Amino acid sequence: MVKIIFVCLGNICRSPMAEFIMKDMVKKSGLESHFEIASAATSDEEHGNPVYPKAAEELKKHKISCEGKTARQIQKSDYAYYDFIVVMEKSNERDARRILGSDPQKKIVRLLDFSEKPQDIADPWFTGKFSEVYKQIKSGCEDLLMYIVNEGLLYN
Ligand code: 4NP
Repeated sequence: MVKIIFVCLGNICRSPMAEFIMKDMVKKSGLESHFEIASAATSDEEHGNPVYPKAAEELKKHKISCEGKTARQIQKSDYAYYDFIVVMEKSNERDARRILGSDPQKKIVRLLDFSEKPQDIADPWFTGKFSEVYKQIKSGCEDLLMYIVNEGLLYN
């Protein structure tokens, strides 16, 4: 079982998009039973709120539902529980470390560090670019899945 938690600032745009894109991807690959996938925020600003409508709409365009998801803040105990703590941008890593403490097992990774073009995923809450963010997240999730499979982590 590989446990992944995606993390962004608010847990209403990028990280829930990543959560449900990755859930859809592992389901379509027949690997659903090998994964536990969640998402959380570094801030508690949006606690309890549903996915931002424009992010939910973008997922819906790709026939992906995020119904029922509400935002929650990452907590210290998540560090031991999850294998991969996947942030969207560098500032999320800094903020996550404040909550989680140090990262002795190097679990905190940036999503697009698995890709050929390592970079931050800009916050669509500010940029409005939900379609572009969808493509970046999907591509990052494909690379992350490939990494997990290639490293032989599925059967650990
Ligand atoms: P996210 O976007 O980090 O991709 O969920 C944001 C959503 C809300 C806020 C910031 C970022 N906010 O400050 O409320």
